[in-house]
Amino acid sequence: MSGVNEIRSTFLDYFRRNGHEVVPSSPLVPRNDPTLMFTNAGMVQFKNVFTGLEQRPYSTAVTAQKCVRAGGKHNDLDNVGYTARHHTFFEMLGNFSFGDYFKERAIELAWTLITKEFGIDAKRLLVTVYHTDDQAFDLWKKIAGLSDDRIIRIPTSDNFWAMGDTGPCGPCSEIFYDHGDHIWGGPPGSPDEDGDRFIEIWNLVFMQFEQVTKEERVALPRPSIDTGMGLERVAALLQGKHDNYDIDLFRALIAASVEATGVPAEGDRRASHRVIADHLRSSAFLIADGVLPSNEGRGYVLRRIMRRAMRHAQLLGAHDPLMWRLLPTLVAEMGRAYPELARAEALISETLKLEETRFRKTLERGLSLLSDATATLDKGDTLDGETAFKLYDTYGFPLDLTQDALRGRGIGVDLTGFNDAMQRQKAEARASWAGSGDKAAETIWFELREKHGASEFLGYDTETAEGVVQAIVRDGAAADKAAAGDRVEVVVNQTPFYGESGGQMGDTGVIVTDRARLAVTDTQKKGEGLFVHACRVEEGTLAVGDAAALTVDHARRSRLRANHSATHLLHEALREVLGTHVAQKGSLVAPERLRFDVSHPKPMTAEELKRVEEMANEIIVQNAPVTTRLMSVDDAIAEGAMALFGEKYGDEVRVVSMGEGIRGSKAGKPYSVELCGGTHVAATGNIGLVRVLSESAVGAGVRRLEAVTGEAALAYLAEQDERVKTLAAALKVQPGEVLGRVESLIDERRKLERELSEAKKKLALGGGASDGAEAVREVAGLKFLGKVVSGVEPKDLKGLADEGKKNLGSGVVAFVGVSGDGKASAVVAVTDDLTARLSAVDLVRIASAALGGKGGGGRPDMAQAGGPDGAQAAAAVEAVAAAIGA
Ligand code: ALA
Repeated sequence: MSGVNEIRSTFLDYFRRNGHEVVPSSPLVPRNDPTLMFTNAGMVQFKNVFTGLEQRPYSTAVTAQKCVRAGGKHNDLDNVGYTARHHTFFEMLGNFSFGDYFKERAIELAWTLITKEFGIDAKRLLVTVYHTDDQAFDLWKKIAGLSDDRIIRIPTSDNFWAMGDTGPCGPCSEIFYDHGDHIWGGPPGSPDEDGDRFIEIWNLVFMQFEQVTKEERVALPRPSIDTGMGLERVAALLQGKHDNYDIDLFRALIAASVEATGVPAEGDRRASHRVIADHLRSSAFLIADGVLPSNEGRGYVLRRIMRRAMRHAQLLGAHDPLMWRLLPTLVAEMGRAYPELARAEALISETLKLEETRFRKTLERGLSLLSDATATLDKGDTLDGETAFKLYDTYGFPLDLTQDALRGRGIGVDLTGFNDAMQRQKAEARASWAGSGDKAAETIWFELREKHGASEFLGYDTETAEGVVQAIVRDGAAADKAAAGDRVEVVVNQTPFYGESGGQMGDTGVIVTDRARLAVTDTQKKGEGLFVHACRVEEGTLAVGDAAALTVDHARRSRLRANHSATHLLHEALREVLGTHVAQKGSLVAPERLRFDVSHPKPMTAEELKRVEEMANEIIVQNAPVTTRLMSVDDAIAEGAMALFGEKYGDEVRVVSMGEGIRGSKAGKPYSVELCGGTHVAATGNIGLVRVLSESAVGAGVRRLEAVTGEAALAYLAEQDERVKTLAAALKVQPGEVLGRVESLIDERRKLERELSEAKKKLALGGGASDGAEAVREVAGLKFLGKVVSGVEPKDLKGLADEGKKNLGSGVVAFVGVSGDGKASAVVAVTDDLTARLSAVDLVRIASAALGGKGGGGRPDMAQAGGPDGAQAAAAVEAVAAAIGA
C-alpha cells in the first residue's frame, strides 16, 4: 500500500472532506505551554482552544503534528533502537472537535477511515474504553458492530489521557490491530498485553476536563474530541510490516546510513542504524524549530539525542561525521510535507557536522576510559558514579549515552554516586563565584542561575511565549510575591525577551498572569545565562510559580531588528569604501536609531558617506533573506565572518549572513557575514532604507556614524523635504531652484558688502565731502586729519589711517572709532618726513588717556591704542591735536 506521504495526505484529505480545517503542524517548541519541553501530541497547539481561552475561526480541525518524546513526561529516548515502535520523533495524525461533535461522530469518522479509506480488515480490530464509559461501549457496538469481547473495559490510567500534570484530559478509547497469532502477546488488559501482537493504532480522547492543578479538575466548557494516530505505526500496518523501522521512510534513511558506512542493516548493528535514523529525524526537526545544542534545557536534550546517535555512528565504524550526510535523504522524504525542514537544511547540516566533529575529539578517549573502568564488571554490576560523572564532565558523555553504551552488557550506572559528584562540583563552583567585588554584589543572580539553570531564550523565533515565574527580586533580594506598584526583576524559565547584549538594547513589553499585569521596561542578562526582566507591576499580584504570558513590544523589536541588520550592512559598506582597516569599535542598537563606531584615521568625505549609504541601500533593495547558522568560531572566521576583537565567544557561535555581494571579491557571495547573537530582520527589505545622519570623531582614529532606518528614516527625509519646501516658498522659487537662488543672493550680498565698505571709508576719510578736505586742518603748521569714525571695524582703522597719510602727503592722522559696546580704539599715523619730530606712539597714548585707557603701542609712524570710554572720542582727537601744537 501507499507510502508515508500518501497516508498522511489521505488522512488530512478525509477529514477535510468531512468539514475539518487542515491546520499546519505547530513547532516542536510549544509557545503556549511553559511546562512542556516539546510538543508531544497533536492537541498541544489547541490546548487553549479546548479550555475556551482561545477562539479560532473553526470548530473542527485536522493535523499531522511533529512530536518529540524525549525529556519530560513522555520520554522514549532510552528505548529507541531496541524496540519496534519507539521513536524520539514521530508524526501524530489527529482530528479535533472543539465543542462541535463528540463521541458518536468521532467513533463514526474513525471507523469509516480505517475500514473504508485505509481498507483495514475490521475483523482484526478491537477497541478499549475507560471502564466506566458505557456510552462509548454502546457506540462502538452500534457503529462498528463489534462484539462485546472486542470492546475491552480498561480501569487504569491507560484509558484516561492527560497531556501533562495539568491541561485538558479525558477518558479515551483506543483502537488495536491484531497482527496475528504468529506473534506473541495478548489483548489489552490481559497478562500478556506487553507482547507485540496487539498494537494500538489510534487513540480517541473524549476531552471533558481540565486538570488545573494536581488536585483540582474542572469540566471543559464543552465536551470535545482529540485523537492521535501514530503515522509510523499505521504506515507499518498498511505496508504489511510489523516493525515501524521497516516502513518506506525508515528504509530510505537506513539505506542511506548503510551506504555511508558499508555496515549491513541487519545483524549486530541493526540497533545502531535505527538509532541513527530516528535521532536524525528528531535532531533535524528540533534544529529547524530553533533548538540548538547546548548544555541546558531543550538544547541539552537535543545534544543528548545527537551524541547518542554519534556514538552509534562510531559503532558503525564511521570515521568522519556521518549524520549530516544522511540529511539530504531525510529532506527528500519529508521536506515537502514540512517545508521548514528544507528551509533550514544548511543550518541543520552545519549544526550536525559541528557537533559531531567536536564530540569525536572526546568520544574515543571517553569510550576507552569507559572500557577500562568496566573491564572487570559483569552483567548486573554497576559503574561507579565518579567515573560516569567524569565521562559527563570531561568527555561530554550525557548520562544516557553512558547507560546506552553499557546496556548491551547488562551493566548499570550508580546514579546516586553520579548525582553526588555533580552536587560536589556545583558547590565548588559556588565557592569560587561567591568571592569579592562585582561578583559578590551579583551573588543573587548566580544563586538563581544555579537553582534554576539558564533561562531559555525563544526570541529568535517568537515574540510571545508562556513561561513559569522562577524568581522575583526586589532591591537585590529574592521575594515570593510582588504587588501593584512594585518595581521588581523577574526571572522566567523561558522568554521571548532579548536581554541587552552585543550593543542591542533589551526588549520591553508585557507579562500577564491570571492575577497580574506587569510592564517590562528592560531586559538584561545576568549571572551567565539568566534573562532578567525589569518590571513594574501595574495591577494584581505576582507570585513565584505563576504561569505567565510574555509578549514583546512588537513595534519596538521590529525597529531594533532593522537597526541591528542595518548596522551589519553599514559595517560591510564602510569596509568596502574605506578599506579593511575599518573595524567595529562600539555599537548601540536602539529602537529609534543606531550608532556605530569604527576605526578610521580621518573624517569621511561627503562622497564616501554617500557611497556607504548607497551600498547599504542596494542590499536592502535586494530583499535577500537573512540567514543564521551555528558554527565553531574557527569555521566561521574561515568563512570570512567578521568577529569582534576582544569579544568573548563560546565554542559555538551564531553566524548571521545577509545580502548578495555585487562587485569585487564579494560578487556572488554573501555580502555581510558576522558573528552575532542579536535579532535580525528576516529579509533585508524589512530594513526599509537606511539614512546616515552624521559622521563625527569620538577619539583618536575612531569615527562615529549615526543612522536611522525604516520609518525613522522616512520621517527624517520628510522633514528635510518640508524644510526645502519652506525655504523655496520663502525664496519664492521652485524647490529645484533654491540652490541657484541662494548662490545669487550670496553674490549679491558680497557685492553690497564691498560697496558699503567703500562708502564707509570715504565717509571716514572725508566727513562727507568727496575729497575729504573738510576734516583736514592745520595745527602748528602741520596738516592734521583728525576724526571720530563710525561703522569701521577696529581692525580696519590702520588701513584707513594709511590712506589718510597718503592723502595728506605730509602730516598727522588720528582716527578714533567707537564700537557697539561703547569702547573706543584709536589709531595715530605720522608721515615719514615728520617722525623725527613727532612719534605716533606718544600721540596715541595721549588719545588713549583721554579715552580712559592706558598705554598703546606701535611704531613712530603708526600706533594703536584703546580705551573704555567711547564718549570721549571727540575729546581724544582734540587731545592729539593739542599735543601736536604743544
Ligand atoms: N492526545 C492523544 C494522544 O497523544 C490523542 O494519544
